[in-house]
Amino acid sequence: MTVRVESVDPVKKKTEALCFFVSEKSEEPFGLPNLDKMLQLGIRQACKETKGKIGSISVVHTHQIIPAQRIIIVGIGPRHKITHEQVRLAAGKIAKKTSEMGLSEICLVIPDRFPLKTKVAANSAIEGVHLASYSFDKYKPDKKQKTPSLTLLATGREKVSDIISRAQTVSDGVIYARSIANLPPNECNPEQLASFAKSLAAKSNLKCTILSKSELKQKGFGGISAVGQGSKNEPKLIILEYSGKKGEKPILIVGKAVTFDTGGISLKPADKMDEMKFDKCGGCTVLGIMKAVAGLNLPVNLVGIIPSVENMPGGESYRPGDIIRLYGGKTAEILNTDAEGRLILFDALSYGIKTYSPKEVIDFATLTGACIVALGTNVAGLVSNNKKIAERIIRASERTGEQVWQLPINDDYMEMIKSDYAEIKNVGPGRVAGTITAAAFLANAVGNTPWAHFDIAGTAWIQTGSKDKSYNPKGATGFGVRLILDYLSNP
Ligand code: BES
Ligand code: MN
Ligand code: ZN
Repeated sequence: MTVRVESVDPVKKKTEALCFFVSEKSEEPFGLPNLDKMLQLGIRQACKETKGKIGSISVVHTHQIIPAQRIIIVGIGPRHKITHEQVRLAAGKIAKKTSEMGLSEICLVIPDRFPLKTKVAANSAIEGVHLASYSFDKYKPDKKQKTPSLTLLATGREKVSDIISRAQTVSDGVIYARSIANLPPNECNPEQLASFAKSLAAKSNLKCTILSKSELKQKGFGGISAVGQGSKNEPKLIILEYSGKKGEKPILIVGKAVTFDTGGISLKPADKMDEMKFDKCGGCTVLGIMKAVAGLNLPVNLVGIIPSVENMPGGESYRPGDIIRLYGGKTAEILNTDAEGRLILFDALSYGIKTYSPKEVIDFATLTGACIVALGTNVAGLVSNNKKIAERIIRASERTGEQVWQLPINDDYMEMIKSDYAEIKNVGPGRVAGTITAAAFLANAVGNTPWAHFDIAGTAWIQTGSKDKSYNPKGATGFGVRLILDYLSNP
């Protein structure tokens, strides 16, 4: 997507679509210039029609009174509640509308007197338009959307140009994560995922290592080996390394990539099983983060680890009742083969901590249906053993609009996954605190390393029947990429 900033007078701008934000109960959009009476009236009317409600849109034709062909008014909600997210949602709406109209040019006015800093508003507007312009059409004969060009008419004195490339690189990371996460399970198995990681590394400034089935077995990755043994698509461990700062401990980011989760011998019901192609979303988020961090040359060291398996039932599958040895030696009793994510994450976390002694660890996983029950589809579960990290994450979450809610963890929960026959078991008692007992399993792998766990079961893709945001089209959302990029940039 091409993005430009200009400081020309909107009245003089020749464009297909001159766009303005309007807040609730206002008859005048932000940055309305002096215009001919008739046009002025038309714009006031359009503002009334939208009522300033977030995302509602009205189009005014200019009849060649000014060089712009039409004016688009988009509601941005109550004036005192205008945040990054409102700009992102409204900008996403403009992108959707102009694309439906077959336009390829958006010219958005961000005046000096807008309630947010010009830089902040510009960043969110670019994200909104860029992210809304993606759709997964790889298997459609007629590709409908072409990415629009965006011109920001920013009259303020703040220098906006340097945030343009940043916003674009971050959005590209999100779209990259989505485009892999959306692939069907016959097109993206662990081996394919590994080859995507390899070509990403070859194009970016990243080092990529892949561990194969036999290497995993031989090195003691008992969790990944057990979950992967039921599928003819062999498991892989994908490792990506980025160094942007000499002599500092890295941050470890781990992501669950089950390319398809049938549940295994503890088979899932058929209804919506297709959505379990999205069980690789945590891993895809890691790929998106690595791409964007390398693209921005951030001064950090980052290790991304993606355990990838296909969880299938069959004659060679692991079973309920099996006792396995996880990476590092801890024994785990399997009581449900559908609780597979924690097993592969345990191995990846233990290996990452042992190999890289990271200063902190973050993981992303579509881990539990219980998380959707608790928080719904707009908020991810957050579990952490470190107050500072959790607080920084919550601040990054507020800026990026990727919402999280922290759940507790303590020794009571650790007790709930102690096993009668092994050290730990892969499910807690009954259905209580399902998201936390899953996290407690991971806590056994991270020990005292500062750690934050994201359960993205509800937020990783737009679930059938749930309402999508203007900038999150159908399919995978790439949740977490923008949040972590913000987190890493604001230590
Ligand atoms: N990938 C699923 C969790 C999931 C389910 C995410 C639906 C998004 C939508 C995970 O592997 C799983 O099956 N978890 C089980 C755990 C249970 C057996 C303790 C679950 O949540 O039912
Ligand atoms: Mn499962
Ligand atoms: Zn799963």
